[in-house]
Amino acid sequence: MKIAFAKPELPADGAVVVAVFEGRALSPAARQLDERSGGALSRAMAAGRFEGKKDQTLTVLAPAGLALNRVVLVGVGKAEAVDTQGAEGFGGTALAQLLTSGEAAIAIAADWAEGTKLSAAELAARIAFGARLRGYRFDRYFTKEKKEDKPSVKKVAVLTDAAAGAKAAFAPLDKVADGVFLTRDVVSEPANVITPEALAAEASKLSELGVEVEVLGEKQMRKLGMGALLGVGQGSERESQLVVMRWTGARDPEAAPLVLVGKGVCFDSGGISIKPSGGMEDMKWDMAGAGAVIGAMKALAGRKAKANVVGIVGLVENMPSGTAQRPGDVVTSMSGQTVEVLNTDAEGRLVLCDALWYAKERFKPKAMIDLATLTGAIIIALGNEYAGLFAGDDALAEAITAAGKAVGEPVWRMPLGEAYDKQLKSDIADMKNIGGREGGSITAAQFLKRFVGDVPWAHLDIAGTAWSKKDTATVPKGATAYGVRLLDRLVATQYEDR
Ligand code: BES
Ligand code: MN
Ligand code: ZN
Repeated sequence: MKIAFAKPELPADGAVVVAVFEGRALSPAARQLDERSGGALSRAMAAGRFEGKKDQTLTVLAPAGLALNRVVLVGVGKAEAVDTQGAEGFGGTALAQLLTSGEAAIAIAADWAEGTKLSAAELAARIAFGARLRGYRFDRYFTKEKKEDKPSVKKVAVLTDAAAGAKAAFAPLDKVADGVFLTRDVVSEPANVITPEALAAEASKLSELGVEVEVLGEKQMRKLGMGALLGVGQGSERESQLVVMRWTGARDPEAAPLVLVGKGVCFDSGGISIKPSGGMEDMKWDMAGAGAVIGAMKALAGRKAKANVVGIVGLVENMPSGTAQRPGDVVTSMSGQTVEVLNTDAEGRLVLCDALWYAKERFKPKAMIDLATLTGAIIIALGNEYAGLFAGDDALAEAITAAGKAVGEPVWRMPLGEAYDKQLKSDIADMKNIGGREGGSITAAQFLKRFVGDVPWAHLDIAGTAWSKKDTATVPKGATAYGVRLLDRLVATQYEDR
């Protein structure tokens, strides 16, 4: 799909999308078409009970007096409430109405910035971004799809009289979308395709963008003493990997980096503490934290962010077998701390604890943020709307919260505390890898906290937000790439040179 900005001249044929404000107040393009069609749009709105409320849509086919195949009306609510997310939502909803319509080229009118929070250029850029995000589709395994089920839209023209400004504003957003798409791709791939080695190979491709990528195999990790991570992968035929991605974009290449750490369990069967079979297929996306970190690195490098950022992902497969780790095994982590593995299904924290310790020792980070589909308990607590945020550092927590809110990837802060930490006490080792049933997401976070030292750190439990069963305006159902836009925004607002 190609997206371009063009002068605000409405096409004579094909399909065009126009905005309508709440109370059926027409945007300039909508008014023009309504007049040219002798009020056909107004009549259609009344007949279709279309009020112009946010996300409401109405498609008018072959309106009288126009050669257009269709005019799509998309409600945007009150003008003064339209912000970047509102504009992106409009673009996404517009695209969704036409994606499989049969139209190859569509036009979206972005002539309605007046009264909103956005400039004309920004409105058009955000509409384009929203359309691009919604146009994503993971379809590489359909070999027999019917033509009418396939997307038909090849070209999107966003109509604006600020085309040059819109193009400039869209350029970095386009790179963020590239990162989002990489994440959605690798998270959607099944586990027989995205093995730890295959995912490491995907990450290695970021070197084309100037990211320095190192891949450590089991031998190197053994030398480093990563017994916790290696224990998780020891039941698998696939070799565990640790990938380090370094983007050096700050004026001072030696400046301490922000480090992003991702849980990359390419399949989580639970291991010997095996999961019930129902729904186990979901555990192909137990590498969504790693996927988000890789996608975020692609976005940052793509738009040449002026910051030093390191991405580290621990990639393993958690399988039961004759060589698998057993409940009750004791492993020694890179930190030297020992862990009694009472449940082999609480594996994410075992992967992350070695990755976090390694990050801290090697990079002396300004801050560390890990992303992980860590616990089912966070879904019980927050559902699929918010990711759980755990942070020792208030300033970091506030910055992450603000970034998430700004891009529509919200987080909800959860508590940490001594009393939760106590639940990790083991009878025979420094700690066990599970607490009680209660507060399961918090004890998981407490476990991680034991491996971050004094580095300002935050943990995002994205088990509820990494995958969606329903379409939203800018995120088709499936892998959401939750975290990529949040991290990009956080870097832009907190870590880039001015
Ligand atoms: N990968 C799962 C968590 C998960 C569950 C992610 C559902 C996405 C959807 C994690 O490794 C896990 O199995 N956690 C256990 C921990 C328990 C054994 C302490 C859980 O949440 O049940
Ligand atoms: Mn598990
Ligand atoms: Zn897991």
